[in-house]
Amino acid sequence: MSNEQILKNTNAKLLNEFNASILFDKELYTQDIKASLAHSFMLSKENIISKEEYLQIKDALEQIQKEIQEENFVFSLEHEDIHMAIENRLTVIIGETGKKLHTARSRNDQVVCDFTLYVQEKSLDIQVLLKNLISTFVNMASKHIDTLMPGMTHLQHAQVLNFGYHLLTYANMFKRDYERFQSSYERNNFSPLGSAALAGTPHKINRNTTSEMLNFNAPSSHAMDSVSNRDFALEILFNIATAMMHVSRISEELIMWSSYEFQFIKLSDEYSTTSSIMPQKKNPDVPELLRGKTGRVYGNLFSLFTVMKALPLAYNKDTQEDKEGVFDSVKTINISLKILNEIINTMEVNKNNMANACKVGHLSATDLADYLVDKKNIAFRDAYYITKDVVKYANTLNKDISELNLKELQEASKDLKDIEEEVIMHLDLKTSMNSRTSKGGASTQNTKEQIEEFQKWLNKI
Ligand code: ARG
Repeated sequence: MSNEQILKNTNAKLLNEFNASILFDKELYTQDIKASLAHSFMLSKENIISKEEYLQIKDALEQIQKEIQEENFVFSLEHEDIHMAIENRLTVIIGETGKKLHTARSRNDQVVCDFTLYVQEKSLDIQVLLKNLISTFVNMASKHIDTLMPGMTHLQHAQVLNFGYHLLTYANMFKRDYERFQSSYERNNFSPLGSAALAGTPHKINRNTTSEMLNFNAPSSHAMDSVSNRDFALEILFNIATAMMHVSRISEELIMWSSYEFQFIKLSDEYSTTSSIMPQKKNPDVPELLRGKTGRVYGNLFSLFTVMKALPLAYNKDTQEDKEGVFDSVKTINISLKILNEIINTMEVNKNNMANACKVGHLSATDLADYLVDKKNIAFRDAYYITKDVVKYANTLNKDISELNLKELQEASKDLKDIEEEVIMHLDLKTSMNSRTSKGGASTQNTKEQIEEFQKWLNKI
């Protein structure tokens, strides 16, 4: 072979590799076969191909499905993508009839149909995992409605909560995620099949038939929009990114809570590892990885946004770049939700340490101010400054505000010199938590009611 010939062959090979998507879009083989089964059935029902031809196609497609499942199918770059690979194999198995499958269809509507089916299926799977995770948070919350914990803002002690209430925050986040997947599912549940290359087809097809067979709500209403659209892929990427952002927030708290400084929880040994050099260490690698993996799913979202930006209508090969990021995000969230679920289920909660942590940082300072407003008719801003003095005074005694006795309180501020014994009760941590009875507040009773609401919701979905 001449040098020139070798170069030409190398270039052709490179180009094949560059152009082909088969090595990753083979992930869509079940959806591709499902859509082809529906399409060929519809073609025969509308007398575009014969019943016998349909049955031949159907048998062969089922055989191909088995071949791929059993890893007896050769994926080769020269077939470019999963659509061509399956159609080629079909023609090898049944000859000329195989070539009729692509009547009234283009790879442009085929790929968007396969990909929509994939996204819809995965959305439902993710919803199941989210539901499990929410019930884990709710169960854990129900065990900790009396477990006192310092609630924080700016990562500084703020007001006392119960741990159950804190956990319900995550149940709320993941519930919104669940609902977000649900609404995307409904918005995108339209069949693109039959849109053909960009503008429909002169063949007398029936798009309702394929839409129904594929469990879509209805056929999409505009062919050109359908083949150009990747909003459904962006939506699942966004939904995953948001859920992973929530995963990263609880992961961060788990990492913090399991540190020596906090010691609020102990991660089960399975979800922490030792250091290769420091024998005493137990590292929270798994939550760290969960936190880290959030980065890649953000990347996948931004990468598809960038691919789609300013694309002219209708189909462009750029959109072949839509798949890998979605596959990656779907895999990442699947494993992340399962693992997080187990971490929460198996962690040990150190109630004593949490309760002790409430004794520093003057968590009931706001309660003193609220008491002065409520019982002593003092304007909130004045009550605020009086309380500030009390906090200062408590600091000089090296005490928490909740530990001051009546005499100390009376000495703390000239405005409190006549204060009565009942004030002491209001500084008690448990009383403080239970006083927050406003709708959505952190009292034990409220937490109980919120748990019941969640349980009702979980039973309904
Ligand atoms: N592999 C292509 C993709 O993923 C399928 C559609 C190709 N259509 C075309 N006209 N080249 O987007």
